[in-house]
Amino acid sequence: MQKINFQKLKKEVQEKIQKAGSLQELDSIFNQYFGPEGKIKTLTQNLKKLPLAKRKNLGKKINEFKEFFDQALNLKMKELKEKIEKNVKREKIDVTIPGKKIVVGHLHPLTLIIQRIQEIFQGMGFAIVEGPEIENEWYNFDALNIPDNHPARDLWDTFYLKKIIRGQKLLLRTHTSPVQVRFMEKHQPPFRIIAPGKVFRHEATDKFHEINFHQVEGLMVDKDVTVADFKGIIENFFEIFFKQKIKIRLRPSYFPFTEPSFEIDIPCLSCKGKGCEICNQEGWIEIMGAGMVHPQVFKNSGLSPNEWQGFAFGMGIERLAMLKYRIDDIRLFFSGDLRFLNQF
Ligand code: DAH
Repeated sequence: MQKINFQKLKKEVQEKIQKAGSLQELDSIFNQYFGPEGKIKTLTQNLKKLPLAKRKNLGKKINEFKEFFDQALNLKMKELKEKIEKNVKREKIDVTIPGKKIVVGHLHPLTLIIQRIQEIFQGMGFAIVEGPEIENEWYNFDALNIPDNHPARDLWDTFYLKKIIRGQKLLLRTHTSPVQVRFMEKHQPPFRIIAPGKVFRHEATDKFHEINFHQVEGLMVDKDVTVADFKGIIENFFEIFFKQKIKIRLRPSYFPFTEPSFEIDIPCLSCKGKGCEICNQEGWIEIMGAGMVHPQVFKNSGLSPNEWQGFAFGMGIERLAMLKYRIDDIRLFFSGDLRFLNQF
């Protein structure tokens, strides 16, 4: 039987245990010595073959070694368990902590206003149509009875594109009125439509003017549509939109595409008509242009003015939003300023 140097064995075991990083590793170290094929196990099994004196001596050494082993093992086990507990504590999920809210975006105030306008007009039987933002001169001007070199063209400061298609200069539409012509070309009356959308004007910006803003166009055509129909529908629209009865005022005006033409004022909602800064001491606020569709516009759209009549109107959407929400600067809508946007 081979002689065993217990001193060396202790050192070897001590080192192995020291290096162990997990309870499984400790287990396997234990097996190396005390498992079924472990070094000490076999030694113990062979003890009984030895003469008494040697047996006693070796038995004592084995016991000593075992004690030493147990001590080192227990120490290391304690250390590892503490480490594990610490980790568990650190990784524990506290299900009682309130969750972090996911930030959800929301609709832009102008989108909300456009949706509201659409709902109200749909409730009165109007269909919603669209037209292109890049227009040509025919639809934006000529078809609407605004001939070239006519001073009325100066009413609309226009962004022209460099491109010319089929002899037509392209431009960014200056109003939503061209949608009237595009729609009438393709549809037979009677109909009632609104056409909301972006428009563009080449002008200096200030609190009330932006180069890019929105309008909603309206058009109702039938055999016997009158100004009274227009007044009733628009009053109804304002009442629902502003959630209060609104008295409107029709003022004679001029637009090349309507005859007669008028501008519509509503009492200033801030001072209730008394006169204040918002309404420039007028008590009234101009809110839209309108009129009875000009016979020439019907002709240009392929409809007979002898057969049909109707009203048209155009209204600034930012204007409506500013009145409804008491916003004092149109430039806020496109500023991307979250302090403004988050209020809606
Ligand atoms: N297009 C006009 C503008 O931008 C507004 C307007 C006035 C539209 C009279 C109409 C109308 O349909 O009948 O200033």
